[in-house]
Amino acid sequence: MIAFQPLLLPNGTTLSNRIAKAAMEENLAAADQGPSDQLLRLYRAWAEGGAGLLLTGNVMIDRRAMTGPGGVALEDDGLLQRFRDWARIGRSRGAQFWMQLNHPGRQMQANLGQPTVAPSAVPLELGGLSKLFPVPRALSEEEIGELIQRFARAAELAEQAGFSGVQIHAAHGYLLSQFLSPLSNRRTDAWGGPLENRARLLLEVVKAVRARVSPGFCVAVKLNSADFQRGGFDASDAKQVVLWLNELDVDLVELSGGSYEAPAMQGDARDGRTLAREAYFLEFAAELAEVARMPLMVTGGVRRLPVVERVLTSGVAMVGIATALALAPDLPARWYAGEREAGAELAPIRWKNKALASLAYMSSVKFQLRRLAGGLRPQPGVWPLRALLAEQLKTARRTRQYKRQMAGLGL
Ligand SMILES: Cc1cc2nc3c(=O)[nH]c(=O)nc-3n(C[C@H](O)[C@H](O)[C@H](O)COP(=O)(O)O)c2cc1C
Repeated sequence: MIAFQPLLLPNGTTLSNRIAKAAMEENLAAADQGPSDQLLRLYRAWAEGGAGLLLTGNVMIDRRAMTGPGGVALEDDGLLQRFRDWARIGRSRGAQFWMQLNHPGRQMQANLGQPTVAPSAVPLELGGLSKLFPVPRALSEEEIGELIQRFARAAELAEQAGFSGVQIHAAHGYLLSQFLSPLSNRRTDAWGGPLENRARLLLEVVKAVRARVSPGFCVAVKLNSADFQRGGFDASDAKQVVLWLNELDVDLVELSGGSYEAPAMQGDARDGRTLAREAYFLEFAAELAEVARMPLMVTGGVRRLPVVERVLTSGVAMVGIATALALAPDLPARWYAGEREAGAELAPIRWKNKALASLAYMSSVKFQLRRLAGGLRPQPGVWPLRALLAEQLKTARRTRQYKRQMAGLGL
């Protein structure tokens, strides 16, 4: 079975199969933003689930800049033992375990009470929900330099903790993706303007990370195949960025798409080509595979083995799966054992308000993560409204806790 053939990466690392558990922000950090016992329990389920590669949910390189109040942050070695425990569990059954590193830029909620920074002072456009996100302040050149160092430091710490790689998150409208898009990056200095400048931050981050970790440690990038917004980062831009990444020592590029403004990663793409019911970004990925020197992984919409196999026979080396592995963490092991028909999916949420539907979808998946983290079985039939309300309540509580914690640190 092609899905269970090993994959050799450019740095000599071998992945035991072609299935990855894609990054899902868990919102399960302890009060100090380190990995909690619940988070560790969740990863035990995935470690035993049979995927050859596990990616953490996004880990923040700066505790002042969070995608949510319950996120994990890694900026110094203060909590390294907890990270060691996390790494040990993730790798306990032989999977590669990579930490995804992220900075939210302007996609950070106002109620966290921290200043929001971005390439330019361009606010998010989310209709009625826009006011939840403040107008960001444009980063200074000095701050950009500090950010590059933060990514490199977090990668170094991840290696010290025992992770086998990092993935730099440059997709989904977060900071690095904001730099790539001409809609959010209006800078006129060396970090804005032509694509060469807009891609500079990502490329500098990759170089700085690579320089700080050992050659056997994997360095990957998650990139949008497109933003799905008129005038935004598009497929030809993605191709050019992959050509530049070809020149750096990148071990894997994961392709996704979309942002908070246009959540294509949830299958809500504006572009007809990606409206395929399963494997949303496959067509782009197969095109890019012709020029990419590193293996490519495509993530979005995959939940059945025949689709995994279709992706892998189209020139793409790895398949990333998020939602289906929140509903059934052991899917790869079941496929391997011969249960070819096994699959898992949530019922589509067809609410008129797309932003709210997207939130409800995320909440329904996070609801499953919490159940797994509590040692319970997933509940794929959860009502989206129930999951949304439960998540809102938990987030409100975590937001208060985060603000208290930050105030205690004088931040
Ligand atoms: C609850 C949830 C949290 C997510 N968090 C992250 C994240 O932290 N980093 C990331 O790159 N993608 C994140 N994603 C996106 C997934 O990695 C993936 O790209 C997307 O869900 C499409 O794949 P799927 O159809 O298999 O779920 C998240 C998705 C969900 C549902």
